[in-house]
Amino acid sequence: MTALSAARDLLGELTGTAPDGIWSAPGRVNLIGEHTDYNEGFVLPFAIPHRTYAAARRRDDDRIRVASTFADEAVEVALDDLSSLFPSDGDLRVPEWSAYALGVAWALRELDASAPGIRGVDLAIASDVPVGAGLSSSAAIEGAVASALNDLWNLDLGPVTLARAGRRAENEAVGAPTGIMDQMASMLGVADAATFLDCRSLETQSVPTGFSDAGLELLVIDTRVKHAHSTGGYRDRRDACERGAARLGAPALRDVSVEDLPRAAALMDETTFRRVRHIVTENQRVLDTVAALRTDGPQAIGDLLTASHASMRDDFEISVAELDTAVDAALRAGAIGARMTGGGFGGAAIALVAHADVATVTDAVEGAFSDAGFAAPHIFTVAPSAGPRRDA
Ligand code: GLA
Repeated sequence: MTALSAARDLLGELTGTAPDGIWSAPGRVNLIGEHTDYNEGFVLPFAIPHRTYAAARRRDDDRIRVASTFADEAVEVALDDLSSLFPSDGDLRVPEWSAYALGVAWALRELDASAPGIRGVDLAIASDVPVGAGLSSSAAIEGAVASALNDLWNLDLGPVTLARAGRRAENEAVGAPTGIMDQMASMLGVADAATFLDCRSLETQSVPTGFSDAGLELLVIDTRVKHAHSTGGYRDRRDACERGAARLGAPALRDVSVEDLPRAAALMDETTFRRVRHIVTENQRVLDTVAALRTDGPQAIGDLLTASHASMRDDFEISVAELDTAVDAALRAGAIGARMTGGGFGGAAIALVAHADVATVTDAVEGAFSDAGFAAPHIFTVAPSAGPRRDA
């Protein structure tokens, strides 16, 4: 069954009737620019064909109910009680899966709780974005729910405002200290192009990837090592970046250039310096990738992707053995570039591969995983895809 019909059926079970509509939003891969978003820098993600669907129906009262194929039980709450669900002590009062959806409802209501269209709603969520794979399954939920509520509540908000509401849900409802890349990538997806985003101004430009014209495919290698960003390493890297910027007297690492690095080395401990060096060089690699795509085409970006991986492995230290194995095996088998994608500590790698080499690279990565005693990876191709839409 498709995720679209699963969402429709689940809403039927919940309400005994048909939805008013079904909305969907995509997951994403990040082509390059990792951990640069919360440093107010540059990223170049694109939306993928995998989507999350929200079937929705208006209610006659002021309650919101959300159900999902991930969970056995629906969660129901009065709209006025939404803000009490997400205390700042991080002690969530609802299951985490539901906080992405309820957090979006809360964030949209925070913009204008007296908007006349706001009333109770039932939501049923189903997804074909792999969870915990670094493909932004959470941003896809947020995008689908934000799109549904935007229409059902007659809010008439644009994609950037909806992306900000999604990020607020993630940061303040779920408590994951993430940046805005994933929500912007999902909300602003365009077929055949990546989204070049300035995370300070939130200005975007579509940059055609040219993959298919050049006979290239982007392979996703999901290592199946699950990650979560609400705790641990992600927050720790964020702190190191803030510390580094403060030592340099810079508002954010976005304001530090490659030429500043020798000075930076003298001002901070060695680990903090390596964290800073990753962000500063990664921002430059994003700019170089955009320039290369525009002038020379996608064949020219392979070394930038691979250099990004080395920087995350050695300086930012967010890779894991499975990701390094995927990247190394893909490159040895002829990929023109490869890197881990997303927040790290698990999740997926990407490899840019000539169409004719897809089978060879896939076999090589599967073989390397088996030799290393790792569980089999899940490998598939993705093409840049469109953002949110109303499906029914
Ligand atoms: C996760 C976060 C993003 C971004 C990436 C790393 O996907 O949600 O905001 O920080 O990690 O680039």
